[in-house]
Amino acid sequence: MLFSKKIGLYFVKQFIIYSRKQFGSVLFTFAHQNKTDKNIKTNYIKMADNKTFTMIKPDAVSAGNSGAIIKMIEENGFKIKAMKYTRLSLERAGQFYEIHKERPFYKDLCAYMSSGTIIPIILEKENAIESFRTLIGATNPQEAAEGTIRNLFAESISANAIHGSDSDENAEIEGNFFFPEIEKF
Ligand code: GTP
Ligand code: MG
Repeated sequence: MLFSKKIGLYFVKQFIIYSRKQFGSVLFTFAHQNKTDKNIKTNYIKMADNKTFTMIKPDAVSAGNSGAIIKMIEENGFKIKAMKYTRLSLERAGQFYEIHKERPFYKDLCAYMSSGTIIPIILEKENAIESFRTLIGATNPQEAAEGTIRNLFAESISANAIHGSDSDENAEIEGNFFFPEIEKF
């Protein structure tokens, strides 16, 4: 009788230990998820309005102008939040420029952007989008204002040295296209 009571108690004890472990891990997962969701929301709100995305294009990288261009960017008050040296496949270039899919130059643009090394960069500055578009100048270097990056470094309308996002929303999408959260500082 005493023996079966002991066995009974043993099973009750094991059941309590097991339940604690299971319930505890569910609670932990729930709390962690909640925290992660909150961080994503806070980061998103913080990112709006003061970030832009840029990419130094193959012509500027192969001509050895990336150092001079990054220097100009920093001297104009932009802080680098992420940067890498990489290459786009034809397929990835097509995805990046999907917005121009119907334009006559889309195929050439994708071939060009996948032809060499590029440097994607996330930048921070107040009024970043507009301020950066002013710094890079018009799409066609022949129309780019004096002293702008495209005026100084672009070869032609297709090989025009640098990209600049045109809105907060696109800056967020384009930055995420190249950088996971862990690579953004
Ligand atoms: P990005 O900053 O690179 O987006 O340039 P943008 O915003 O000044 O121009 P847009 O978004 O209209 O075009 C994207 C890219 O396509 C340009 O940077 C050029 O490299 C290329 N492009 C635009 N218009 C033409 C064109 O008429 N002919 C050719 N060959 N390429 C063009
Ligand atoms: Mg554009």
